[in-house]
Amino acid sequence: MAFPKSFLEEIRSRINMVDLVGRRVALKKRGRDHWGCCPFHGEKTASFKVTEDRDDYHCFGCGAHGSAFDFVMHVEGLSFPEAAERLAEMVGLEVPKLAPESREKADHVSRLAEANEAAAKWFQAQLRGNLGAEARDYLRQRGLGDKAVEEFRLGYAPDRNDGLKTALLDRGFTDRELVEAGLLGKPDDGRGSYDRFRNRLMFPIGDRRNRVIAFGGRALGDARAKYLNSPESPLFDKGRTLYNYAMAREAGRSAGTVIVVEGYMDVIALAEAGFRHTVAPLGTAVTEDQIGLLWQMTSEPILCLDGDAAGLRAARRAAERALPMLKPGKSLRFALLAEGMDPDDLVRGSGSDALSGLLSSTTPMTAMLWQGLLEEREIDTPERRAALEKDIDRLIFSIEDELVQRHYRDDLKGRMRDALRPPSRQDQGGRGGWTANWNGKRQKVEDISRLKAGMATSPVRAREEALVGALLKWPELAEQFENELDDLQLQSEDLDASLMMIREALYAEPGLDSEALARHLSRSGLERLVTRMSAPSAARLDWAAKRNPPADAVRQLFDATLRRYRVEVLQTDYDEAVAEARREVTAEAIERMAALRRALDSARAEEPTGIRGAEDGASA
Ligand code: UTP
Ligand code: MN
Repeated sequence: MAFPKSFLEEIRSRINMVDLVGRRVALKKRGRDHWGCCPFHGEKTASFKVTEDRDDYHCFGCGAHGSAFDFVMHVEGLSFPEAAERLAEMVGLEVPKLAPESREKADHVSRLAEANEAAAKWFQAQLRGNLGAEARDYLRQRGLGDKAVEEFRLGYAPDRNDGLKTALLDRGFTDRELVEAGLLGKPDDGRGSYDRFRNRLMFPIGDRRNRVIAFGGRALGDARAKYLNSPESPLFDKGRTLYNYAMAREAGRSAGTVIVVEGYMDVIALAEAGFRHTVAPLGTAVTEDQIGLLWQMTSEPILCLDGDAAGLRAARRAAERALPMLKPGKSLRFALLAEGMDPDDLVRGSGSDALSGLLSSTTPMTAMLWQGLLEEREIDTPERRAALEKDIDRLIFSIEDELVQRHYRDDLKGRMRDALRPPSRQDQGGRGGWTANWNGKRQKVEDISRLKAGMATSPVRAREEALVGALLKWPELAEQFENELDDLQLQSEDLDASLMMIREALYAEPGLDSEALARHLSRSGLERLVTRMSAPSAARLDWAAKRNPPADAVRQLFDATLRRYRVEVLQTDYDEAVAEARREVTAEAIERMAALRRALDSARAEEPTGIRGAEDGASA
């Protein structure tokens, strides 16, 4: 249905973006721009901008951007021609008459829609009637309430060959129309048409405006296919349709997100549990068009999938499909269920809190892709590592947006560097302790002979010694860093014990000076530690001690050492989690890896790099 270019230009020139957007969004004027809260993602502060004499809008929060046509299409859920008609009406333009053939086609399509609507009504009536008793029982047994049955317009197709056929022919539809709408099947051998859906629970599938365009039918008896869908028709393009789109778009606006599940029953169960912002593709993997639709609703739709191998594969496929289309801010997130469970089972079995919990700890796309890259491969030889890098490059180069591509390169290459970092020095120095620490157990990490020789057994141990040594030298740090020290648990048991003793001594006697503290610890059997810590080469903070620096330099240095230490510990934990996830791919392992990655990234971000450099340099 093409409109003449001049007509569209005329709309563009007449429309006032501020008026148009102002109907939907409360706008405030600042200079030449008007600002409001973005209607495309949930936000409390205005980052959505329209400018008086320009015909576009832009959201600095979610990146939503477009013309007057885009605005009407996305906000009202209309197709382009529909949006054009709406805008023409607004600016007082006559819609040009369509060419006769497109008018005919439009009439034909709307006729098919009418047939589908009539069928939906008829299926609903059957569910309420005598023939629907068994189907009603089934719904009850699955825990579906009347309200949901009404809202989703569920129906029943009786086990007959010409029930719907007779009813709709009576209402004036032709056999050809009903076949084309996919409501009747017609064998090639010349026999007559018959009801396509028999003895099935019927789920009407709506388009963006919730016009019925197709059906999904769930078998109640033992039919070959559990679900049968309407065939594609001029009305129904499976890959561009999402089940429950209209309700989810509305609800998603306040929920701030949209959930994607696999099945019709999942959508309905979630909607009943209050998650009305849920959609499902129609029995296939999510298509590019569907991802586009989802991004019109929200920036980061959540794909909620079974946590088994097939679910993980589906997640990765979806991630790879979305990859080329990524835009700044636009992505997918993944919520992986326990094996063999679907979202319907989860909310009915464990309640909506369980689902909320799952949705609050989603896995981002990069983690999903990274996990896919590592699966079923070793990276123990240069050739294998090269193969990994090649696959990473392939993924990165498929991203069209340059900025997103750059950030993906940083992220994935960073993960690769981390995974490939030789286990080396740290391993040899009794690193068994970090592994054990990951499991929640603590293991003795102590090498007496090295201790005696005054050498730290690992960089982490050295860092711990620096921290304890500094506390011994400047006891006032214990008070200044009280909160940080509360969270601190050292990996070396002896040092952790001394840390505790130092803090206890200072609690008992605030204001103890360094010498008094040393005497106190010596009395408690930590003589060797005290001697060692006061040896000039022991502590990494030594250079500071030698210069007898002003108090805030010590504080800064201690702070930097603490942060550095946190990064190092998280790094070892992360390495371990990566290895773990590689050994056994489970949703839990991936999530743990992702969580550690996040923690590590934020710990790194908190490191004051300048000070770290100074300290490392001086202590080398
Ligand atoms: P499921 O087998 O997970 O079904 O298929 P479900 O939705 O959980 O239904 P219940 O709980 O068994 O009643 C998920 C989706 O895959 C499509 C349908 O869209 C279904 O909702 N599907 C499944 C088919 O198209 N055909 C089939 O034979 C099976
Ligand atoms: Mn199910």
